Parts: sequence; structure tokens; C-alpha cells
Amino acid sequence: MDTIKVGIIGAGGIAQHSHIPSYKKVDGVEIVAIADINEAKARGTAEKAEIPKVFKDYRDLLDIKEIDAVSICTPNVFHKAMSIDALNAGKHVICEKPVAAKGSDASEIIDAAKKNERIFMAAQVQRFNHISQILKDFIVRGDLGEIYYVKGGYLRRRGIPGLGGWFTNKALALGGCMMDIGVHALDRMYWLIGSPQPVAVSGMVVQKFKDNAVDGGWPPLATRQGDLFTGVNDVDDMATGYVKFDNGTVLFIEASWATNCEPYNYLELMGTKAGAKSTGDNLKIFSEIGDNLVDIAPVISRKNDPSVEQMKHFIESIRTGKEPITTPDEIINVAKILEGIYKSAETGREVLISEL
Ligand SMILES: NC(=O)c1ccc[n+]([C@@H]2O[C@H](COP(=O)([O-])OP(=O)(O)OC[C@H]3O[C@@H](n4cnc5c(N)ncnc54)[C@H](O)[C@@H]3O)[C@@H](O)[C@H]2O)c1
Repeated sequence: MDTIKVGIIGAGGIAQHSHIPSYKKVDGVEIVAIADINEAKARGTAEKAEIPKVFKDYRDLLDIKEIDAVSICTPNVFHKAMSIDALNAGKHVICEKPVAAKGSDASEIIDAAKKNERIFMAAQVQRFNHISQILKDFIVRGDLGEIYYVKGGYLRRRGIPGLGGWFTNKALALGGCMMDIGVHALDRMYWLIGSPQPVAVSGMVVQKFKDNAVDGGWPPLATRQGDLFTGVNDVDDMATGYVKFDNGTVLFIEASWATNCEPYNYLELMGTKAGAKSTGDNLKIFSEIGDNLVDIAPVISRKNDPSVEQMKHFIESIRTGKEPITTPDEIINVAKILEGIYKSAETGREVLISEL
């Protein structure tokens, strides 16, 4: 396979600001087609990015034989059907997060990837940022010892994406802040602790800013032209989850699009040899030297563009046939944990993963 030919499904914010520019920075990749139900947006994006073929119906894009791989950049509710259709059409797939809101939906996608012997990767871009990569190196080397507790979150004070568009419409988004940004923090923590088997989940899911909602500016206004606007806002703006794993590790996750707090992203890992805390772009290790407790601030010498690294990795997986960084079990378990958080919040009790 010389040049890998790619199609983009969904021409909105993430396609225009991440997938398209990132593919353009990867050698041996050509974007040959783009599809969006908003044909004018697809056409405008294609003109700017010099993409030769434009479609309104993504199935027409999937009919193009020369396309090896597709990026799925559409509202969450379409991820499952589009991924399965693309895999059945013989394409490798990278799908935006959340891949699925239910374990059974994620399993169906994974089955389609296995049946068609294609790569399926979840676009969990935060695994590629330099802090995540450094931490993963430390953890794999054993520098933190046994990690038994991890907590983290993605907290916005006021910042609801696409207020009144698909993001805030449960039928299209499948959930609110936990599905949208909570999944970033959840996936990153789950991967860092070595992806143990989840056993039980408790969750809290609320909407407290329905009448005081502020648009967060994403997707960028220039990419919203002609978008569906329903005015619906029926999803969570704050959610938390507490997950127990079969090895005894516990994970706490919190996410908000709107709440009265300091807005920040954070992650804290507690291990038997050392702990680690990351806020935004900072990283600190809590360790010991001799009888002394020490705080270590790693020098971040390898800043990268996570989105470009993500696309390089996807293309490399296609070329080598190696399993991508997001494994089938991880994709299914992240979906099950999300499902468990919402189900626990709805039922008011702890949910066993074996029930899902
Ligand atoms: N990785 C990240 O950091 C990140 C950031 C933002 C969004 N996302 C994810 O990317 C996906 C898209 O989000 P976005 O911000 O680009 O939204 P967006 O609204 O800007 O773009 C979505 C596009 O999909 C199109 N679309 C809707 N239904 C379609 C269909 N049936 N066929 C073809 N096109 C269709 C819309 O017309 C729109 O242009 C979501 O799953 C979101 O969670 C990821």
C-alpha cells in the first residue's frame, strides 16, 4: 500500500480543526473525499482543503473502492452505524469519541472490525499528549509501583458546546458532559492504570444549568453554518463516576460543562512507590529518596501535537496491521463504564458490569 487514501465523514469542527489538518501532516496520506448531510459545509471544507470528491450521503463515499480508511466525525448517535457500514465496506476506521454509549454497541463495532479484518481505532486523542506519554512510560517502567487509586476530571465552569444543537440533544449526543469530555479523562485514566477489568460503577448525573446555560464556543462558529438547531437542551451538565476494578483499583471521574468551580483538567494517580498529579500541562511526581519525601517536576522536553500523533498512529496501524493503541477490550469497557454511570444515576444504585 503506497499512499493511503482517506475519506472524512462529517465536515464540522473536529474534521476541520483536527482530522483534516492532521492527515495533511502525515506522509503518504491523501484525503480523497468528504461527506456531510450539510452539503454546503462539505463543499466549502473540500474547497479549502483541496479534497476532490464531495458527497451528501456517506454511503456514496463508502462505495469508492480506492478509499482505504475513513474518519468518522459526526454526532455521537451515528458512530455505531457509520463505523459498521464502513468496516463492512472494507475500510479501516478511526471514530471520534465517544465511540458508543453502551457496551453492546461497542461490541458490535468490534465484531464488525474482526469479521472484516480491518483496523478500528477510537479517537482518544488525549492518550497522545506528552504528559500522558511520559506518565505511561513511568507506569510501564514500574516507577509508580502498584497503582490503587486514580482520580481525574475535565471541569468547565461555563462552557456548553453547541447549545441547542446536537451536542445538547440526548437523542443525538447520547448524553452530555460525561459523554463529551468525561470520556477523555476516563479513557486516559483507564489506559494509564493498565486497563483492568471493571466490576462495578456508581454515578451521579445532573443538569443544573438548563435555565442558565452558556454556549462554550465549540464547535467554532465558522463551522456551524447551516447546522441543525433544535433548541433542545436535555443532557447532563455535571456528572461523576466511581469505578471498582477486579484488581482492587478504584477510579473516580468527574466532568462538567457548567458548574461553580475552578475550571481545569486534572489527573492524580496514587501508587505504592510514587504518586503523580497533572493539571493542564503540568506534571508532578510525589516520591521518596532515602528517608525524604520528594516532589519531582519532570522536564517536558517532547511537546507534540496530539492530533497529528493520533493520525500518524492510525496510519501506521493500517500499514503494519498492528493493533492500535485503543484495544477492543478498552473500547468496550469504556463504553460499559459510561453506560454504568448513567444507569447508576438513573436507578440510584451501584451497577455491576456483569449486568450490562
Ligand atoms: N477529540 C476531541 O477532542 C473532540 C472535540 C470535539 C468533538 N469531538 C467529537 O467529534 C464528533 C463531531 O463533533 P464536532 O464538534 O465536529 O461537531 P460538528 O457539529 O461541528 O460536526 C458534525 C458534522 O456532522 C454532520 N452530520 C450530521 N449528521 C450526519 C450524517 N448523517 N451524515 C454525514 N454528516 C452528518 C453535521 O452536518 C456536522 O457538519 C463528535 O463525536 C464529538 O464528540 C471530539
